Amino acid sequence: MIPPVKRPDGPEGQPTELKSYDEVYAELPLLHPTPRSWAELAASRLPEFLADHAVCEQQVAMYGLSLAGYYPDDAELVERAAALAAEEVQHFRRVVAILTKRGWPLGGRRKNVWAQSLRARIVLGREPMTKVDRLLFGALVEARSCERFTRLLEEIDDPEVVHLLADLGPAERRHWEMFYRLAGRNTDEQVLAARFQGWREFEADLARGLGTSPAVHG
Ligand SMILES: [Fe+2]
Ligand SMILES: [Fe+2]
Repeated sequence: MIPPVKRPDGPEGQPTELKSYDEVYAELPLLHPTPRSWAELAASRLPEFLADHAVCEQQVAMYGLSLAGYYPDDAELVERAAALAAEEVQHFRRVVAILTKRGWPLGGRRKNVWAQSLRARIVLGREPMTKVDRLLFGALVEARSCERFTRLLEEIDDPEVVHLLADLGPAERRHWEMFYRLAGRNTDEQVLAARFQGWREFEADLARGLGTSPAVHG
C-alpha cells in the first residue's frame, strides 16, 4: 500500500494528509491507471514536465473561454467556463512562477497527441450532442490531469512542486465533476452515462500508448 502523500505545509502549518493515489483513482472516471514508470520519468525530468504543465494550464483556460464563446445563450455554462478559465490562469501563473524562479525555460506550444486525438472525437455540428461532447472532453482532460498529478506526487520530494500538485490535483478533480454535471443538465442520465462510457474507453485506449515522455499527457 502506497503511503499517503504529506503536504509540506497545511493550512495551520501542519502537514496535511492527502488521499493516496488508489483512493483518488477510484473516484475518477478513468479506465487505465498511469504506470508508476511514467511518474519516475517525469520526476527525473521536472523542468520538462513543468514547462509542459504550464502549457496545459494555459490551454485549458483558453478552452474554457472558447466554450463560453460557443454557447453565449447558456448563462450557467458561460459563468462556470469563465470561472474555470480564471482559475486555470492562476494555475498557469503558479507554474510559470516556479519555472521563472528556477531559471527553467517555458516550453511554449507543443504537440499534445493525446489531447488532439481526444478532441477530434467531438462530433461537430450535431447540437445538443456537440455541447455534451465538448463537456465530456473537458471532463476527461481534467480527470486525467488530476490522476497524473497524483501519480507524480508519489515520486517527488521537491517541496515546492509537491505543494503545487497537492493543490492542483483536487482542483482538477473538482473541474471534471463540474464538466460532467454541466453535460448532464439536459441529457437523460442513462444516455449521458452510455455516451461517456464511449469517451472513457476511447481515452483509456489512448492512455495505454502513453508513458514514454515526461509531459503531463505524455
Ligand atoms: Fe488547472
Ligand atoms: Fe482544471
